[in-house]
Amino acid sequence: MTKKIILDTDPGIDDAMAILFAEANPNIDLIALTTVYGNAEIETGTRNALYLKQRFNMTCDVAKGTSGPLQRDPVEASVAVHGQNGFGDIDIEDPSLTVDPRPAHRYMIDAVKAAPGEITLVAVGPLTNLALALQEAPEVTSMVKEVVIMGGAFGTHGHTGNVTPFAEANIHDDPHAADVVFTADWPVTVVGLDVTHEAFFSSEYLDTVRDTCGDTGQFLWDISRFYLAFYKERMGVNGCFVHDPSAIAYVIDPSLFEVRNGPIRVVCEGPAEGMTLQKYRDTKHKTDAWKDKPAQNVAISVNDNALLDLFLDSMTAYSK
Ligand code: RIB
Ligand code: CA
Repeated sequence: MTKKIILDTDPGIDDAMAILFAEANPNIDLIALTTVYGNAEIETGTRNALYLKQRFNMTCDVAKGTSGPLQRDPVEASVAVHGQNGFGDIDIEDPSLTVDPRPAHRYMIDAVKAAPGEITLVAVGPLTNLALALQEAPEVTSMVKEVVIMGGAFGTHGHTGNVTPFAEANIHDDPHAADVVFTADWPVTVVGLDVTHEAFFSSEYLDTVRDTCGDTGQFLWDISRFYLAFYKERMGVNGCFVHDPSAIAYVIDPSLFEVRNGPIRVVCEGPAEGMTLQKYRDTKHKTDAWKDKPAQNVAISVNDNALLDLFLDSMTAYSK
């Protein structure tokens, strides 16, 4: 059955991969892109979302989200990873399309209330828009079908962080928002570094995307040159890890992932700010900040070859 999603995103090179993957796969009905600061400033990221909509004739709405975190001091845009323009500094013309008049979090609330039980929220940037939606309309927790999040790092396979030794970027950008979203009473699955660092788009794989996926493949190849240069310099690898597309892969085919169940909390201050911790053993403690919080899913392993096949097959079919 086709799944209706709202994709909350900070476009972003791997965000563009995820957006076009969602648009391409027939099992997903992409209702809207809601934007958030993160990889780029909010104006730039929103422009990028509109650019994709226009260039690839997408029918989804675009709603502009918030420009900064709930409480913490803002972290600067990730220009070293995604370029000044968020798309690897290739030429991006300003689109003529415009955004929905509502702010992103209100767009989410309205859409979820109009189709209770039908919409999956997929978030691949900082979780501020989702937290704002929960603050304004806490009743939506019972109306959302599912929440799928790219973010966090729980230490499986030794993956503990990327922007700090113990924090992943999306959660580090707004740890307070992440803690609100993880502890809300709605079904969350977190697709974090535990699995996204276990799937790899090699340089050769991206060449195949370029050669077999038409204009979309060429675009993804063009924007990923900057990204691959960052990975080469920072990590000495010839390719990139599969962050945001992994969240879309989970929506399409959850059987690609093994998940672990238990409540999740986020460290909101201090040197481990942004660290994500899941309590997955039923131990008893006098003090327990996880007690009485809803159990959520954390992805702990992935069938990476099947994920890569799913992405390539989806993009290839889309280009025909
Ligand atoms: O840590 C990876 C995440 O941070 C991805 O969502 C990437 O786009 C950035 O937002
Ligand atoms: Ca992202």
